[in-house]
Amino acid sequence: MKYDFTSSASRENSNAEKYTLREKLFGSDEVLPVWVADMDIDTPEFVLEAVKQRLKHPIVGYEEVPTSAFEVQIKWMDEKHGVKFELEDLLYSHSVVASMSVAIDAFSEIGDKVIVQTPIYPPFFHSVKEHKRELLINPLKQMSDGRYTFDIDDLKSKVDANTKLLLLCSPHNPVGRVWSRDELTEILEICLENNIVVFSDEIHSDLVYAPNKHIPFASISKQARDITITAIGVGKTFNMAGFAMSSVAITNKKLREKFTQSYNRVHFAQGSVLSHVAFQSAYKDGSQWRDELVEHLGKNYKSLNELCQKYKDKIKLIPIEATYLAWLDCRGMNLSDRDLRKFFTQKAKLGLNAGLSFGREGSGFMRLNFAVSTSQMLEVIKRLDKALRIKYKK
Ligand SMILES: Cc1ncc(COP(=O)(O)O)c(C=O)c1O
Repeated sequence: MKYDFTSSASRENSNAEKYTLREKLFGSDEVLPVWVADMDIDTPEFVLEAVKQRLKHPIVGYEEVPTSAFEVQIKWMDEKHGVKFELEDLLYSHSVVASMSVAIDAFSEIGDKVIVQTPIYPPFFHSVKEHKRELLINPLKQMSDGRYTFDIDDLKSKVDANTKLLLLCSPHNPVGRVWSRDELTEILEICLENNIVVFSDEIHSDLVYAPNKHIPFASISKQARDITITAIGVGKTFNMAGFAMSSVAITNKKLREKFTQSYNRVHFAQGSVLSHVAFQSAYKDGSQWRDELVEHLGKNYKSLNELCQKYKDKIKLIPIEATYLAWLDCRGMNLSDRDLRKFFTQKAKLGLNAGLSFGREGSGFMRLNFAVSTSQMLEVIKRLDKALRIKYKK
């Protein structure tokens, strides 16, 4: 391994959101926060170095995103994910969630229906509600092995002429699925039949565990390309959320124009010059770092799984294929959602996301972010093991 993930800088006294909000959310600063989806792993040195180099020029003014930044992203998307975009397809965005909000504004009207597949990352349903669109909830269903899949019959029975947009999460947060070509094709068919535009949030697409392979929605077919808005970025992969830079790819000119009208209304502009160089260096120099990170995350996932196996009638780790977010099925503990949260914060001293925040299907679940260094993972396991051992006298 060229890169070292065994330890990382402490975020205790930084302004990291997952630490600063501890007291407010969990009632104690002793809680080890494993909730917000960024990593307690250092942002790669080559990214920080690129920023330092840029700062050698003493003027930090308005700058356009350089073509070279999008060119390296296009190359990455082609080589890693087999999807081809052109420079003209790409737009700067400071945030995937903001891009989603623009898509809702652009492709639906007040009162129209927008499809969201729960349990899901909360901004999906919040954005729909904030825009006064109607939420069309199409819950995912669990298969016998615990993994989730789309409920196609439910979706077919619910879509109608007022359904304008589907917000796809691919790979999915929090259930960790990498959707197969067959699953995506079924979704595509429904969208084509009903003139539904697809906003495909692919922010987790670089964090996929072998042998799974991410399939960009826009890569399924020409028809899929024509109805897709793809949101992609480096925020998750390289722990760069603080640089606030991602992009949106829209190959259909008409859709791109419509999106751009809404986008211009809220003045997305071109972001920060420091983000441009960070973004470019991540895509240019980050291939090996990404591969080694995924290997490291796989080990953390394995150790969490080993722990859950010990208490398997109480906690089940839903098998995941991507992301660093473990979706823990704690229904075997027979606790109310309130008591479940209390168990994790007060007994295990760990700050997780409550499953219910991902939709009502998340009742009895908790989400744990295992994107931490090896030493911090040992601490997470130690705390959880101790709390479970005491509770179940094992
Ligand atoms: C599926 C998904 N989309 C978007 C985001 C946030 O992206 P951004 O910070 O670019 O808005 C997250 C962060 O957790 C996420 O999990």
